Amino acid sequence: MRFQTAALSALFLESAASYDFSSVARSILPAQRLEKRANTTEIPLPINVEASQYWDGADGPWSSFPLQVGTPAQNIRAFISTNGYTTWTVRPLGCPAGTITGCEESRGELFLTNQSLTWVPNSIFQLGLPNEMALGLDDEANYGFDTVTLGWQGSGLPTVQHSTIANMATFDFWLGTFGINPQPANFTTYTDPQPSFMTQLKNNNTIPSLSWGYTAGNQYRFSGVYGSLVLGGYDQSKFEPTNLTIPFGSDVSRDLLVGVQSITTGSAGLSNTSDAFYALIDSTVAELWLPESVCTAFENAFGLVYDEYYSRYIVNDTMHQSLLALNKSITLTLGQSNSGGQTVDITLPYAAMDLEISYPYVANSTRYFPLRRAANDTQYTLGRAFLQEAYVAADYERRNFTVAPCVWEQNSASDIRTILSTDFKNPNSGSGGISGGAIAGIVIGVLAIIAILAGALWFMRRKKQQKKHAAVELEAKSLAAAQTPSGPSSPVKEDPHAGISTPTGGELDSSRQIHEIAGASKPNAAEMDAPWRGELDAAGGHHEFYGKLPQNTFEMEGNNEPIFEMDATATQLHELEPDTRRQSWDSGDDRGDEKRYLQMQGY
Ligand SMILES: *[C@@H]1O[C@H](CO)[C@@H](O)[C@H](O)[C@H]1NC(C)=O
Ligand SMILES: *[C@@H]1O[C@H](CO)[C@@H](O)[C@H](O)[C@H]1NC(C)=O
Ligand SMILES: *[C@@H]1O[C@H](CO)[C@@H](O)[C@H](O)[C@H]1NC(C)=O
Ligand SMILES: *[C@@H]1O[C@H](CO)[C@@H](O)[C@H](O)[C@H]1NC(C)=O
Ligand SMILES: *[C@@H]1O[C@H](CO)[C@@H](O)[C@H](O)[C@H]1NC(C)=O
Ligand SMILES: *[C@@H]1O[C@H](CO)[C@@H](O)[C@H](O)[C@H]1NC(C)=O
Ligand SMILES: *[C@@H]1O[C@H](CO)[C@@H](O)[C@H](O)[C@H]1NC(C)=O
Ligand SMILES: *[C@@H]1O[C@H](CO)[C@@H](O)[C@H](O)[C@H]1NC(C)=O
Ligand SMILES: *[C@@H]1O[C@H](CO)[C@@H](O)[C@H](O)[C@H]1NC(C)=O
Ligand SMILES: *[C@@H]1O[C@H](CO)[C@@H](O)[C@H](O)[C@H]1NC(C)=O
Ligand SMILES: *[C@@H]1O[C@H](CO)[C@@H](O)[C@H](O)[C@H]1NC(C)=O
Repeated sequence: MRFQTAALSALFLESAASYDFSSVARSILPAQRLEKRANTTEIPLPINVEASQYWDGADGPWSSFPLQVGTPAQNIRAFISTNGYTTWTVRPLGCPAGTITGCEESRGELFLTNQSLTWVPNSIFQLGLPNEMALGLDDEANYGFDTVTLGWQGSGLPTVQHSTIANMATFDFWLGTFGINPQPANFTTYTDPQPSFMTQLKNNNTIPSLSWGYTAGNQYRFSGVYGSLVLGGYDQSKFEPTNLTIPFGSDVSRDLLVGVQSITTGSAGLSNTSDAFYALIDSTVAELWLPESVCTAFENAFGLVYDEYYSRYIVNDTMHQSLLALNKSITLTLGQSNSGGQTVDITLPYAAMDLEISYPYVANSTRYFPLRRAANDTQYTLGRAFLQEAYVAADYERRNFTVAPCVWEQNSASDIRTILSTDFKNPNSGSGGISGGAIAGIVIGVLAIIAILAGALWFMRRKKQQKKHAAVELEAKSLAAAQTPSGPSSPVKEDPHAGISTPTGGELDSSRQIHEIAGASKPNAAEMDAPWRGELDAAGGHHEFYGKLPQNTFEMEGNNEPIFEMDATATQLHELEPDTRRQSWDSGDDRGDEKRYLQMQGY
């Protein structure tokens, strides 16, 4: 049967699978709460990836993210690439001896493949991101596979073994990049598409869906606001909800394509509906690549002077003073298409354009205005400078995304919302529901489970009274416990544009043999067998259940609520709850639980 997910979970998760950015708290029907526990399909919570707290880049400053690469782990800092689908690291050749002082630190540290026990070389290919190639940014890199972990050591963020890495020396990209696009990489040296980091996390049931929310952060608000990346969801505290949802572009390499309906600064229009255009949102590059006519309008409005030698808008001190005095902001009106429909305004203050550029892009460090003259429409790009003031949430399963203005509230707690996978949809959807008998069965089953849980609670309570300190020991264990390998293959969609990389050099050979060895790092899926994936019914009377669940599953939330109602032992239950890894939800108060539960329901 295709209907493998038990009917129950499929049924109620289908309603949960739709979500809404202008979400409003709604009351929950008790029946919905109860249904959740009839099957214990585990839905992981989204992952909030912490920034490195460094300001990096030769054309920034930009907020970078920490990665650990190889075994033993080498710490590097990388930028997020909304367009990339592999991890790019800098290799020693990227810092030629004696050329740039502090080069390695400046480039976010090197990845030395010869010092990693788990490095599996593939071959030499072009970096080959289509949008970057259109911008003239591309070079060769040594491709291979190695273990990649998000975050600094000890942050508990996920690891993917055998993840595709491009070890590059080019100056086109100063730091490494971490690709959050879930496209697989296709190499002529392998018959199978190589799954992306995101797909591996999804296959491993580490994130709830192939989706993310990202904003680049900036140094000019407050004392600097670091970038924010959520995998499998988005952070609602970072942006104003809008009604704008944009379907992905038909070209898979240009999925985050928006219509730029107009650009204004103060009262001056820099572009309007008569010269509206489509641009790709792409955090891989720093600048805004706009039509030449729009650049000319910028020159007139801001008094910018184009530097023909560097092909950039270099800003000297006198010009900087006058730009500060002008204090003009830039407002982009974006929509699904280049006219009409829902639109959203993103406003960039001048501070967002007041950046510094240094070697290797210019000889001497100088201020610049991050605007580039695009040669044609394949180059129209809204780069990282734009993402300083915009939040993007992208859903690769429903193939749509949203772009919204950031909100700036100092020290606001994060509010992570889940984007549920379409996998949870009932495959028989369209035909009508579930029989009365089945519902009766469900209700009885659920009641039985509640009874068992109530019994378990009573048992726990008694035990607790006897032995007060026992409960403390039941508290959360670290996620680090079980190593659960993931299934190797990813669901691959048919795609006429599939790019295949052919080796561009011959330095690395016998990669096939090595690949066979690497096969060992991708054993069959066994994640459901991990000790902490205990089934709910198996938990009846087994009070360690709470302590053994990993902190990032939905099951906890789904189950807490009815228990609170049944039995006024809420405070005791809280003692047994594992920590959540997101600190903002750590408070453990009822408001927090309610919030998490609502998110699970997908409102
Ligand atoms: C729960 O769903 C899984 C598939 O996701 C299935 O293998 C399992 O048998 C179901 N369990 C019950 C109790 O229905
Ligand atoms: C690894 O490579 C670096 C740079 O090429 C070199 O300096 C170092 O000696 C190598 N280490 C080993 C153990 O081969
Ligand atoms: C799957 O996820 C677990 C943690 O949830 C991790 O330990 C394991 O390495 C992952 N497997 C792969 C193949 O990435
Ligand atoms: C979204 O749409 C609703 C109803 O159409 C409207 O009331 C609301 O103002 C809109 N919100 C925004 C931000 O445009
Ligand atoms: C739109 O822009 C063009 C030049 O770019 C200008 O001639 C025209 O007046 C503008 N229209 C409006 C309504 O602002
Ligand atoms: C700054 O740049 C402007 C425009 O290129 C130029 O006219 C001016 O002389 C420059 N000022 C200095 C101090 O270099
Ligand atoms: C620049 O303008 C903004 C409003 O657009 C204002 O809040 C800010 O204080 C101004 N800055 C300066 C230096 O005038
Ligand atoms: C860079 O700065 C140095 C020292 O200030 C100066 O001698 C040199 O001419 C500058 N180079 C350029 C291209 O401006
Ligand atoms: C767009 O411009 C780039 C850079 O000049 C050029 O390489 C490319 O061929 C152009 N594409 C089209 C479709 O004209
Ligand atoms: C994608 O579309 C669904 C409805 O089809 C909508 O609920 C959701 O908010 C959209 N997602 C994004 C990220 O815009
Ligand atoms: C690799 O091929 C698959 C289809 O086999 C395609 O979906 C994917 O987009 C391709 N990847 C790239 C980077 O083109």
